[in-house]
Amino acid sequence: MIPDDAMVALRAMLGERLSTGKSDLALHGRSETWHAEMPPDAVCYPKDTAEVAQVMTICARHGVPLIGFGTGTALEGHASAPRGGLTVDFRDMAAVLEIRPEDMLVRVQPGCTREALNTELRATGLMFPVDPGANASLGGMAATRASGTTAVRYGTMRDQVRGLEVVLPDGRVIRTGTLAAKSSAGYDLTGLFVGSEGTLGLITELTLKLHGQPEAVSAAICAFPSTGAAIETVILAIQMGLRPARVEFVDAATAAILNARDGASFDEAPHLLLEFHGSDAAVAEEAERFGELTTEAGGSGYRWATQAEERTRLWTMRHRAYHTILASRPGSTAVVTDVCVPISRMGEAIDRAAAEIAASAVPGPILGHVGDGNYHAILLVDRSDPAELAEAKRLSDGMVAHALDLGGTATGEHGVGLGKLHFMEREHGAGWDVMGAIKRALDPDGIMNPGKLVRQN
Ligand code: LAC
Ligand code: ZN
Repeated sequence: MIPDDAMVALRAMLGERLSTGKSDLALHGRSETWHAEMPPDAVCYPKDTAEVAQVMTICARHGVPLIGFGTGTALEGHASAPRGGLTVDFRDMAAVLEIRPEDMLVRVQPGCTREALNTELRATGLMFPVDPGANASLGGMAATRASGTTAVRYGTMRDQVRGLEVVLPDGRVIRTGTLAAKSSAGYDLTGLFVGSEGTLGLITELTLKLHGQPEAVSAAICAFPSTGAAIETVILAIQMGLRPARVEFVDAATAAILNARDGASFDEAPHLLLEFHGSDAAVAEEAERFGELTTEAGGSGYRWATQAEERTRLWTMRHRAYHTILASRPGSTAVVTDVCVPISRMGEAIDRAAAEIAASAVPGPILGHVGDGNYHAILLVDRSDPAELAEAKRLSDGMVAHALDLGGTATGEHGVGLGKLHFMEREHGAGWDVMGAIKRALDPDGIMNPGKLVRQN
């Protein structure tokens, strides 16, 4: 509930940009996955940082929960409102503010999406490489420390954010970081807010690193006799110093679904899908050398190409793979696992997960960003069947427990949200209490995205 006087103050300030329409609330409380719909009490669309600060001040005065919202593509219920409150949708703060080609930096507002940014950058020869699949907002991507297919080469949001402007729960506006490439001046506040999932403040501006658009790009695919053979090839390639821009794994079940539903013609076997960036000569050489490794590993059907159409087709298919897999069981929802392990242990981790899924009645194709040791089982469940949901959660929890035993993490890229909260203590130990102390220092009344990331009181 938002108290009446808070609503009056918000309405006076925002007018039409404060919404309590039922469909708007539902849209902002829904999840891409199995998490129940938890709508906020109202949604607002601020147009600048000053308005966000005013919204914060009003909500803090009345103890109203605040939830930041970009495009709503998070998979762990990050944007849901378990305690109601006000969702701050950054739709109207989506500008590219400044491109600094010589510094290879860009300043953007949080609602700007990664595709909109890259469209704007097209003529500059620069690009923003982080690609989680969905056309997510850059504010949301920073808040969740997103990554995706290209992290193996370019890193995650952690590596791209040079600085932030953040509105704190008490209405203060701070700037973290500088335009300089490095700094030894104190705590890394930028790093603190990247991945904080809206629990400490709201990001209202980002300064991001850019990269040169590659002169040439080649893409390759290869089938393997086993998951282990595919993963061994990846490990060897990285050890040899090959620097692929993408190394994606799909298992036989995923290959079969992509054949049936997205026009692919894979053998029903584990595959690697790759991309190389560089000069014409470099991408040809990398593709050739990777091909030699696949032969040694017993791979088959290795082929590579530099034609843009084929590449676009391949990566479009990969990007929508989650939704294609979801549609393969009509009416289903998904429990999506997201463990990340040291790559030396990834083969055994995927094999074990696959064996447990095979022994269960729940289908769970596996795909992932194996250059980083990060993979997903898309566990397809009938939402109306509590037994199936429980079984999927059992499988997911088992994968996380195993990943933690191997020195990995519960979530490589999707974040904690509501879905991974129960693993935070096990993963971080007393470190989780430190996160709680930071949370209390910045947000003593617990109004920022309550119910997420830190220990609940
Ligand atoms: C992907 C999402 C599920 O990799 O992270 O497709
Ligand atoms: Zn992913």
